[in-house]
Amino acid sequence: METIHTIEWMKQIAHEARARDRILGLVPTMGALHEGHFSLIRAAQRECAPVVVSLFVNPKQFGPAEDFSKYPRTLEQDRAALEALGVDFLFAPSPQDMYPAGFRTSVVVEGLSDRLEGRSRPGHFRGVTTVVLKLFEIVQPRFAYFGRKDAQQARLIRQMSADLNLDTSVVVCPIVREADGLALSSRNVYLKAEDRRAAAALSRSLAAVRDEIAKGERDTGRLLAALRRVLALEPRVAPDYAEIVDNETLEPVPILRGSCYVLLAAKVGGTRLIDNALIEPDGDSFRVTI
Ligand code: PAJ
Repeated sequence: METIHTIEWMKQIAHEARARDRILGLVPTMGALHEGHFSLIRAAQRECAPVVVSLFVNPKQFGPAEDFSKYPRTLEQDRAALEALGVDFLFAPSPQDMYPAGFRTSVVVEGLSDRLEGRSRPGHFRGVTTVVLKLFEIVQPRFAYFGRKDAQQARLIRQMSADLNLDTSVVVCPIVREADGLALSSRNVYLKAEDRRAAAALSRSLAAVRDEIAKGERDTGRLLAALRRVLALEPRVAPDYAEIVDNETLEPVPILRGSCYVLLAAKVGGTRLIDNALIEPDGDSFRVTI
C-alpha cells in the first residue's frame, strides 16, 4: 500500500489509473477505522481496482462546540489495518493542503441538508459535501462507497453527484453492528461502560418499530411512540430526534408508503449517536432492515 499525503500526487496516481482504464474505487473516511469502514473497503475491492481509502478528519464538518480536537486519531493502527486488507492507496492529505489560506467555496445540497442531523448540527452537511466533492474531484473515482449508518449523508451525496453530473456512482452499504445491536462508530470509544450498555437501546428502539410494523401498524406517529417507549426505559439516553421520513425527500410521512427511513439521534452520556432503519415495501407488507 502506498500512502499519499499531497493532493497533487493523488491526482497524478488517479489520472494514471484512469488512463489505463482501471476502475477506481474511493472509500472516504475520517479514520479511527472499524469493521463498518472495513465492510465498505471490502465492497469496493469486489468491484474496483485500485481502491483508494481517504483519511481526513475534516474540520469543516465539526461545529465550534463539537469534538474536532478530541476526535480519535489512530493513523498508525489504521495504516496497518488497511495494509492487511490489501488496500492500494491511503490518501491522507493535510488540512493546509485541503483548505489553504483563502479557501472560500462550499457546496450545499439545498433542502436536504438543513433537516434532522443538519438542524441539530448547523453547517455540518455543508462541510461534508464540500470535502466529499473535493475528494471526488481529486480522485475522480468510478464508484464511491458510503455506509447507510449515515443515511442522510449518503442521500445528500447521491443528490450532489446527480445534480453536478459527477462521473462517480455512489454505493451505499449496510450498517455493521456489535453483537448487542449498537452500530459501529468511531465515537463509540467515548462511551463509558454504563453508557456503552445503555447505547444498545437505540437499535432496540428500531427493532420495536420493526415489531409493530410486523403486527400491522402503519401509522408513523404510533410507530415512533413505540420507539420512544423503548428509549424512555434507559435514563442515560436523551433522544434528540426520531422521525420516519421518505427516503428520497427526507420529509416526514404520516402513514408508511414507499421506502422510508426511521432516523434517530440521541445523546448517551455526553456522546451523540445516530442510528436508523430502512423500511421498504415487500408485497403487501414492509421489510425493515436494521
Ligand atoms: P466516517 O464517520 O469515518 O465514516 C466513513 C464511512 O463509513 C461513512 O460512509 C459511514 O457511513 C461509514 N460507516 C461508519 N460506521 C459504519 C457502520 N457501522 N456500518 C457501515 N458503515 C459505516 O462519514 C464520514 O466519516 C465523513 O462524514 C466523510 C464522509 C468521510 C466526510 O468527511
